[in-house]
Amino acid sequence: MKKMFTIAIDGPAGSGKSSTAKRVARKLGYLFIDTGAMYRAVTLLAIRTGNLENKQELLRLLSGSKIVLKPGKDGNIVFLNDEDITNAIRTEEINLNVSAISSIPEVRTELVRMQQEMGKAGGVVMEGRDIGSVVFPEADLKFFFTANVDERARRRLADLKESGSDISFEEVRKSIIRRDGLDSGREISPLNKTDDSIEIDTTSLTLEQQCDYIVDLVRKKEHTDE
Ligand code: DC
Repeated sequence: MKKMFTIAIDGPAGSGKSSTAKRVARKLGYLFIDTGAMYRAVTLLAIRTGNLENKQELLRLLSGSKIVLKPGKDGNIVFLNDEDITNAIRTEEINLNVSAISSIPEVRTELVRMQQEMGKAGGVVMEGRDIGSVVFPEADLKFFFTANVDERARRRLADLKESGSDISFEEVRKSIIRRDGLDSGREISPLNKTDDSIEIDTTSLTLEQQCDYIVDLVRKKEHTDE
């Protein structure tokens, strides 16, 4: 029987990890898990209930809430207490607040537990900031994506424009730099490359090249691990 690997992809916003992970998962018949969507769901919960600043109340609400990711045609469909929030979590308001929410240790503990449960059977491509370091330190293959900031801002701008936003390039660029600083500088599970990760600079690569590179490595590993 073919071995089903656990593949971790970490990297900053706009580095191309989501689109790559999604496509690699489809090619391999693996489950794709977007862990950033889960931190975004908790941020939406905090905004809607007016608890961005009230950690205790947010944690109480989170323990009574259900965050579910289902495989969709184009990535994960995200549910918060059975409501489809896939589009609602992709706004600039969420972008501005998600780093603060994801630096709450108890939020991370709870979401990491859920992610480990979702991926424990293998056959997953999981992407985020701490997958190779905290969620699955024993992952079979670990990747760390990077890209220069202008290219990342350009990609994020295209996503936001597609969902109807009129935000400018400069605003997106600033927001990405701010989020980089918060995600890399936080005390708990900061974004950083583990020694056993393969770094891929996607600045001048196409999606196809990124996917082919990873899928080829998986195929080779399938043979060597037989
Ligand atoms: O990948 P993304 O931009 O959707 O992630 C949103 C935020 O969630 C990101 O700014 C940091 C946080 N995050 C995290 O702390 N750990 C993860 N595994 C995934 C995301």
